[in-house]
Formats: sequence, structure tokens, C-alpha cells
Amino acid sequence: MSDRLPETGRFIAVEGADGTGKSTQARLLAERLGALFTREPGGTPLGERIRDLVLDPSGPTPVDRAEALLMAAARAQHVEMVVGPALADGRDVVSDRYVASSIAYQGHGRGLGAAPVAEVNEFATGGLAPDLVVLIEVATPVAGSRLGDDREGELDRIEQAGHDLQTVVVDAYRAMAAADPDRWVVVDGGGTVDEVAARVAAAVDARLDSGRDR
Ligand code: TYD
Repeated sequence: MSDRLPETGRFIAVEGADGTGKSTQARLLAERLGALFTREPGGTPLGERIRDLVLDPSGPTPVDRAEALLMAAARAQHVEMVVGPALADGRDVVSDRYVASSIAYQGHGRGLGAAPVAEVNEFATGGLAPDLVVLIEVATPVAGSRLGDDREGELDRIEQAGHDLQTVVVDAYRAMAAADPDRWVVVDGGGTVDEVAARVAAAVDARLDSGRDR
């Protein structure tokens, strides 16, 4: 599954639209694997500052290309300072979001196009791809109502972009998963946190074990 040396850690990205419970599941998965848990945008002091800049609804609004580049800048810092070194040390890494988020939100959601966003991210990451991408899927109305449960004013700038963007994002994720079934696994995010965590665990174990056998 991985083209890296066998003693390097395994890199798992957890993806999904807003309100899918993805962050909780990413954290639980990392705990279970004893992996380093990290997130994007963020994961480094600079990345967390970029996160604040790009997601704060009261701050200046970046144009779409600036939004894509800020995400990529945070990612470059994250890969070089955190993810790459951990993998090289043999540590598994679970990231709450990675490049696919930019393809889904900036490429499709903002309409910048998947290809240019992928190209910018190839530059940002030096081509580091996850061994496995776990896509947490819930019916859009569930995601919508979970977002709606947030108290007023708590949604970040991208969440505030609303239902249409989320729908495009969900479709983009589905298409990416369908196009690359060896790397992606889709998990039903419906039910309790424990039920979803058990599904994620089963899916990841099956994939990582089969990857080790190759
Ligand atoms: P998220 O991890 O969902 O934050 P939280 O769990 O706190 O709600 O991510 C924050 C937002 O950033 C989310 O709306 C998706 C967006 N995002 C992008 O648009 N592009 C990216 O490349 C990344 C990493 C995130």
C-alpha cells in the first residue's frame, strides 16, 4: 500500500464534510493506534495561526485563491515540521484532514478546480500522500442539523458558507473515494460515537493489515 520504507510510520488522513463527527473519530483512531494525532489547518504554531486567520469569520475574508494558498502554506509547515519527521521515526500519524480537504473545499467547493489545487498541494507537501484516507459519511441532513445545533456565532467562516458548499464537498469526497478505492475507505458516520469508532477501527485494521502483507 505504501511506497515508503516498511519501518516508516503509517499516515492516515480522516476526511469528511463539516458536522460528520470526523474530528472525534480521528482522535479516537489515533488513541487506539497509539499514533500521533494532528490536524489541519493547524498542527504547528504557524499552522494554528493560519487556521485562525483563514477560519475567523470576523477577520478579513481571503479571496478563494488566497484561501487555497493559506491552507497549503499551513500544510507545508505541518508536513515538514510534524508529519514527515514522525513518519520517519516510525510513528504512525493520524491527521484530521489533509490534501483531500483542499481538493473538496477549495477545488470543488470554491470552484478553483481540482487540478490546480492538487498541483499547489503537490508543491506544499513534496508529494507526501496518506497511506489510507478514511472518509466519514453521514446523510447531509444529519450533518446539516449537527451544524445547526451549534450555538449562533460558533460556526467558522467556511461552515458559514452553508449548505450548498457542503453538498458540493460531500459529492467531491465521494468521487475521490470512488476513483481511488485502494487508498480510500468510506465509513458510515451514523449512530453513536462508539458505533462509528468500531466501524472505523474495523475498516482501518482490515486495510492496514492487508497493506502490511504486500
Ligand atoms: P475542521 O477540522 O472541520 O474544524 P472543526 O472540527 O473545528 O469544525 O476544519 C475547519 C474548516 O476548514 C472546515 O470547514 C474545512 C476547512 N478546510 C478547507 O476548506 N480546506 C482545507 O484544506 C482544510 C484542511 C480545511
